[in-house]
Amino acid sequence: METLEGMQRTHHCGVLRKADVGTEVVLCGWVSRRRDHGGLIFVDMRDRSGFVQIVFDEAAMAEGTFHKAESLRNEFCIAVRGKIRARSEETINPNIDTGEIEIVCTELRILNKAKTPPFYIQDGIDVDEMVRLKYRYLDLRRPEMQKNLMLRSKVTMLMRQFFDQHGFLEIETPMLCKSTPEGARDFLVPSRVNPGEFYALPQSPQIFKQLLQVAGMEKYFQIVRCFRDEDLRADRQPEFTQLDIEMSFMDENQIETLMEELMKELFKKTLGVDIKTPFERMEWDTAMDKYGSDKPDLRFDMPLMDISAYVGGSSFKVFNSVLEAGGMIKCIKVDGYADIPRRRLDDLVKFTQGHGAKGLAWIQYCEEGVKSPFKKFYDDETFKKIAEATGARTGDLLLVVADKRLVVDNALGQLRLEMGKERGLIDPDALRFLWVVNFPMYEWSDEEKRWKAMHHPFTAPRNEDIEYLKSDPGRVKANAYDMVLNGVEVGGGSLRIYNAELQEKVFESLGLTPEQAHTKFGFMMDAFQYGTPPHGGLAFGLDRLIMLMAKRPSIRDVIAFPKTQSARDVMSDAPSSVDEKQLRELSIRTAVKKKEKKEEQA
Ligand code: AMO
Ligand code: AMP
Repeated sequence: METLEGMQRTHHCGVLRKADVGTEVVLCGWVSRRRDHGGLIFVDMRDRSGFVQIVFDEAAMAEGTFHKAESLRNEFCIAVRGKIRARSEETINPNIDTGEIEIVCTELRILNKAKTPPFYIQDGIDVDEMVRLKYRYLDLRRPEMQKNLMLRSKVTMLMRQFFDQHGFLEIETPMLCKSTPEGARDFLVPSRVNPGEFYALPQSPQIFKQLLQVAGMEKYFQIVRCFRDEDLRADRQPEFTQLDIEMSFMDENQIETLMEELMKELFKKTLGVDIKTPFERMEWDTAMDKYGSDKPDLRFDMPLMDISAYVGGSSFKVFNSVLEAGGMIKCIKVDGYADIPRRRLDDLVKFTQGHGAKGLAWIQYCEEGVKSPFKKFYDDETFKKIAEATGARTGDLLLVVADKRLVVDNALGQLRLEMGKERGLIDPDALRFLWVVNFPMYEWSDEEKRWKAMHHPFTAPRNEDIEYLKSDPGRVKANAYDMVLNGVEVGGGSLRIYNAELQEKVFESLGLTPEQAHTKFGFMMDAFQYGTPPHGGLAFGLDRLIMLMAKRPSIRDVIAFPKTQSARDVMSDAPSSVDEKQLRELSIRTAVKKKEKKEEQA
C-alpha cells in the first residue's frame, strides 16, 4: 500500500485552467474512467471539485509508473504529480471545465484499490434507489449528489450568517423531551433510570423556543433535527431538519418580511437568482377555493370554477343530489384538450376517485359539438352558458367534480396539478413564492369526532374571532402563515398565544380537561404567568427547501443518509432487534417474537 508521504495535494482537479499551463501540481482523488491506447493511458480523475484528464505516456515516464497506471481501475484512490499542459485544438473537450488542459503524470501513487462498484459513479444513472441507498457512500461520490450536499452546506452557512447579522442567537434544545403535540406520532425513547417511563424525540422544538422567549432571548434560531412517525412520501422523512425561528415583539408582517429577505439572500448567493419581494399573500380560503390546495402551485393558473348555478334543477340525479345535500359542482378548464383520448379520461376518473371524489365528469367542446356524459340531461343553451362562464372555447376540456366542498376542492386541486404537468404548463425554472395566510384555527377530525388544531395549539386565534372559540370553532381564523414555493409548503408558523387564560381556553376547545392540560403543559402554563412577551415564529423544512433549490424530485436526494419509504436505513440495517439484556435493562418486553420480525422484514 502506498502513502501520501511527500505528496501534499496542491490543487483540486476541477479548478485547473489554461492559465495554469506549466504549473506542477499534486492532485488527489479517484479514477473515474481509464482509457488505454497502447503506450498512452488517459485517466479522468475526479475529486469533489470536478474532473481533470491525466496522461500517462510510456515514452516519457519511468517504466514502473507506467506499469502502475496500467493496473488502474475505476474508483481506485490515487495521488498524481504532474505538469499541466494545453491540449491540442482537436483534443479539447468542451464538456468539462478543465477540457482545455491535461496533466502529464510524472509520479503516481495508488493509495487504495477499489472493488468494481455496483453502479457507475456518474450523473443520471438509472439504478434502483434501494441499491443507491445500500451503497450510499458510493452514491454520494456521484457529482450531482456532491453538488446537492455542497449546496446544502452553503445554505446553512448563509442562514447562520443571516441570523447572526439580524441579532438572533443559535440555541440548542433537548432531543430527549416530553411528547410535543404537533400531531404526528412520537418516536419514544425508554428511560433506563426511570423504568417504565419514556422520553419522546422532538417533533419540533416548539415549546422550548417559546420558553426561550419567556426567558428573554428575544430572537432565537436553530438548525435542528425533528422526528415524526408519519407515513412517508417524497417530501417526508421520519427525521428531517428544520430551520427553526422564534422572536419576540414582532408582528406577522415583520416576521414575513424578514423571511423574504432571507430567501432573497439564499437564492442570490447560492444560485445567483433574484427573487422578487414582497411575496404574494393569499388567504387560505382563497387558496382552497381557487386552487383546491393550501399550498397552490402558481407556476400555472387553471383555477377551479363553480358551475353549480348552471347545472341545478335538471333531471341529472348525480348533480341534483349533491346540490340538495349542500355540496357544489366545480370544474377546471384544460385548454386545447377537448381531444383527450377516452382511455385517458377513464384513468382520470380513477385518479380523481383515488383522491376522495366519487366520480368525474367532463365537457369536451369539440368542433363537431359538445361531448359529455351528462349531455342528455341538459339543452345546448346550458353548455353555452357554462362555456361563457368558464371561458371555454372550441377545443377546450372541462373536468367536473360534484361533491361536498372539501372533497371537490381537494380532488380538483390534485387534478389541476396532474393536468398542469400533462399539458406542459409548468416552467421548471420558475420560482413562485407565496404566503398562505389566515389559516383556520381548527379542522374537524372525522376520525376522532373533535376539533383539532390545524397548526398547533399554541397558535394565536385572530382577536376578532376569540369570541367564537367555543360557540363556532369552525369559523375561527388563526394568525398562522405558510410559505409556499412551487406548490410545496417550505415553511410554516404563527403568532403565539402569550396569555395563560387564552391558552387554557384553546386547550379546552381542543377537548383537553384542565387536568389533562396541566399534566401535558403545566410547565408552560406556569411559565406564562411570568410576563411572557408577545412572540411568534416559524420553521422551514430545510430538506424541502434544498430539494427545490437543487431541482430534485425527492428530499432523499439532499439528505446524506435518508431512510426508505418504510423508514429503514438499508445501509446499516436499522431499525433492528436488540439483545434481551438491553431490553431487560430498560424494563421492556416486546409483543413481537423475533421470528415474526424477521418474516416481516423479508
Ligand atoms: P410544521 O409542522 O409546519 O411546523 O413544520 C415546519 C416545516 O417542516 C417541514 N416538514 C417536514 N419535512 C420533511 N419531512 C417531514 N416529515 C416534515 N414535516 C414537516 C415542512 C414544514 O413546513 N413548530 C412548528 C413551526 C412553528 O410554528 O414555528 C412546526 O414544526 O416544510
Ligand atoms: P353514475 O350514475 O354513478 O354512473 O354516474 C354517471 C356519470 O356522472 C358518470 O359517468 C360521471 O361522469 C358522472 N359522475 C358521477 N359521480 C360524479 C361526481 N361525484 N362528480 C362529477 N361527476 C360525477
